[in-house]
Amino acid sequence: MPGREKIVEILAKVPLFQHFDQRQLKRLAEHFADRPFEAGKEIVTQGKEGIGLFIIVSGRTEAVRERMDGTKSIVNEFGPGDFFGEMALLDDGPRTASVVATEPTECLVLLRWDFFAALREEPDTAIMVLQALARRFRQVLDTL
Ligand code: CMP
Repeated sequence: MPGREKIVEILAKVPLFQHFDQRQLKRLAEHFADRPFEAGKEIVTQGKEGIGLFIIVSGRTEAVRERMDGTKSIVNEFGPGDFFGEMALLDDGPRTASVVATEPTECLVLLRWDFFAALREEPDTAIMVLQALARRFRQVLDTL
């Protein structure tokens, strides 16, 4: 489990928090929990309730979407510095995909309330989340 100083160091390199200054990062770091996952572990499950936003510190994950007919496809891959799990937090709906660790993966997890507090604190962070959503939406449209 990394200490607070280490979490601040990690968060300072995460693009999503690039607009946070050192003081804000220190405060934000208090709210993150460190979670290791073995390769093959399902970190979030499609259809389930979402309570956390995940930032990848090390390792890799893939988002797998299961269709109504039971077929599955990989909709995205995430690596160090990327975030996932924002959608269910934003609209309070179920997880849109399962996210699975494809190698041993360490994540920092922020709970819904603290994620919203971070978005309210730094509008540029909220804009970055919106930009990621727009990219993800565009990518889905391209598959239709
Ligand atoms: P959420 O729905 O909370 O949980 C699953 C996560 O997978 C989702 O948030 C996104 O972070 C991610 N995800 C789902 N679908 C896509 C997609 N098409 N492109 C990129 N990421 C996705």
